[in-house]
Amino acid sequence: MDETMFGRALSELRGSATVSTASQADVGRLIVVSNRVAPIEEGQPTAGGLAAGVLDALHEKGGLWVGWSGEISPGESSLQAERQKGRIRLQMLDLAQADYDEFYRGFANSALWPVLHYRSALARFSRRDYAGYRRVNALFAAAVAAKLAPDDVVWAHDYHLLGLAAELRQAGVANRLGIFLHTPFPAAAVFMTIPVHADLARSLCQYDLIGFQTEADRRAFEDYVLREADGHLLPGRALVAFGRVVRTGVYPIGVQTDDIRRQAEAGPDCAQTTRLHTSIGDGKLIISVDRLDYSKGLAERFLAYERFLEQNERQRGAVTFLQIAPPSRSDVETYREIRAELEGEAGRINGRFAELDWTPLRYLNKGFARQMLMPMYARADVGLVTPMRDGMNLVAKEYVAAQDPIDPGVLVLSQFAGAACELKAALLVNPHDPDEIAEALETALSMPLAERRERHAEMMSVLRRNSLSAWRDRFLGDLATRR
Ligand code: UDP
Ligand code: G6P
Repeated sequence: MDETMFGRALSELRGSATVSTASQADVGRLIVVSNRVAPIEEGQPTAGGLAAGVLDALHEKGGLWVGWSGEISPGESSLQAERQKGRIRLQMLDLAQADYDEFYRGFANSALWPVLHYRSALARFSRRDYAGYRRVNALFAAAVAAKLAPDDVVWAHDYHLLGLAAELRQAGVANRLGIFLHTPFPAAAVFMTIPVHADLARSLCQYDLIGFQTEADRRAFEDYVLREADGHLLPGRALVAFGRVVRTGVYPIGVQTDDIRRQAEAGPDCAQTTRLHTSIGDGKLIISVDRLDYSKGLAERFLAYERFLEQNERQRGAVTFLQIAPPSRSDVETYREIRAELEGEAGRINGRFAELDWTPLRYLNKGFARQMLMPMYARADVGLVTPMRDGMNLVAKEYVAAQDPIDPGVLVLSQFAGAACELKAALLVNPHDPDEIAEALETALSMPLAERRERHAEMMSVLRRNSLSAWRDRFLGDLATRR
């Protein structure tokens, strides 16, 4: 679609006219919509779990992916020319500065993200940002509407697009519309700290199917709708609310276990892995990989590692903790603050314990291509994954899938990551308790081989069952079934 068509689709949408749809030849395709689109060239760092998961899911099945290009356009928000990569067609939008500020930096990441992760105190709400959020949801809707054939199925992703279905419905679109929330959904009382919570819930209910990572998330949403939005349940758990029937379901996002293990085994050929192996030698390695985000519990984790070093003098010099933390959303103030805090903490801990030939904490503020991480996970004796809250946490699953089943490492996992519902054979910890994490590190580093194998095998059977393809096929299967 060229820019003129985009403008026309947008004004039709804004005027609530019924949008014209694409030709019948396109019937029944999958249209995925997400704010973040993965870099589709090989070897580039992936930007978080959503992009990684959707990219892998679409590679197999093919489809159209509509999303933000990551670029700010000098004038109005506009569409790029459509591109094709393998079976994926990409329709990207450049955002105008005001759209980026109010939608992405503003409402999505300064208000919604903290609240969805139970951090209401960090949320900054403004009506102006919310208007920008709605405006950009309408832009995405216009881009989708212009491509839509009558039987196409639209699968939206995450908290950026809670209003997309409402915009499409207002324009007369009757297609099947689903959304999957990659983040947690908080308890009703927390969700209600967002001043426009009712409007968001009303918009969400314009979808036919809302997918959650865990049953706790699904139930929290249902609870909100039943208690605060006058909703009621139909047999089979569909919800009636805001004059519509909406279904909810639990679809834990998975990983491609065979690909991950293959990449992990290919590791020794990679220069970065060789550097890591050589520098660690016979020592023990603890690894953590997170976007630099306050929800990931990095500061608390650093404290826990310090506690571990205090209490385990024999481990000093023998263990290295590698924290990979690519900067994320760095123009949002809370993210700048956490970065500054962590730099201080990493320096302090190293200053306190380092020796001439040993740096206890290697803190890297840069990202790696996903396939390069797999051999690093495989080399690590412990995967330390302790978010304060996380929708799923794919790193936890990737760490397990990368291990050598003959001699696997141990996963230490926060009980507040969605992954904890499935990876029950990990050492589960409360991320608020540095002593408990320090003890778990001790247990992990001294765990007998038989127990490591047993825990690993149990987690792998869950990962194989709840694969990435199962996530995609179950969601799309449910979306396709009659209302
Ligand atoms: N990741 C990556 N390079 C990095 C750091 C992370 O490719 O330098 C990937 C990681 O392998 C995982 C995703 O980004 O697939 C992070 O997903 P997760 O669910 O753990 O957290 P999110 O960032 O989505 O909150
Ligand atoms: C999480 C969110 C995704 C987001 C990703 C990276 O996984 O659930 O929606 O894409 O973080 O964040 P970014 O702001 O860079 O897209």
